Amino acid sequence: MNESQVFERLTSACVVAVLVIDRAEDAVPVAEALLAGGVTAIELTLRTPAALDALRQIRRAVPGMLAGIGTVLTPDQVKQVIDAGGEFAVAPGMNPRVVEAALAAGLPFAPGICTPSDIERALEYDRRLLKFFPAEPSGGLAYLRAIAAPYAHLGLKYIPLGGLTISNMADYLREPVIGGIGGSWIAPRDDIRAGEWARITESAHRAIVVRNSQREARPA
Ligand code: 3PG
Repeated sequence: MNESQVFERLTSACVVAVLVIDRAEDAVPVAEALLAGGVTAIELTLRTPAALDALRQIRRAVPGMLAGIGTVLTPDQVKQVIDAGGEFAVAPGMNPRVVEAALAAGLPFAPGICTPSDIERALEYDRRLLKFFPAEPSGGLAYLRAIAAPYAHLGLKYIPLGGLTISNMADYLREPVIGGIGGSWIAPRDDIRAGEWARITESAHRAIVVRNSQREARPA
């Protein structure tokens, strides 16, 4: 899949579960639990040593899951993500060296932005799908509306991450500049560690119900 196909799949999935995996053997069960609840996209954060192994296992065993990697901070990690089969990558910030490495290697990449200057740096690389991070602590939807306004004519889409929950996700989804939403609340690290698969499926399902109700409410 090329970048626009991957981003199309990501924005159509719309709900991204952010995962922090401590044991690679939890990867397939958590991906299956999410899929059972209707969540078809994940961001596996490179914050634990098990992340790349978890990615490999999910890519092998759970083909219905769009599996990307988050917290990609160096050009070396871009290469590791590709070697492990990552379908896309995101980062908390807008690091030109990392974006250049991703573009050179053909890895679909959504950098993190939090200010107009970040957005303009991302535009230098023709990045049109951006991770808005950390969404809630930065000022949430009101802040995103304000920083996105000058670039509205460029058709940028944002995926807010950081502080989203089942309670505020609908507000974000109503906003036209939103390409998707996500967070760790769908499959919390402790639930993964405790093997609470049914609970994760239930939480995924609740998020998908909210996503679907927003889609139905949207004017055609
Ligand atoms: C991320 O890496 O995208 C964020 O840490 C997710 O933030 P959350 O834990 O508040 O959902």
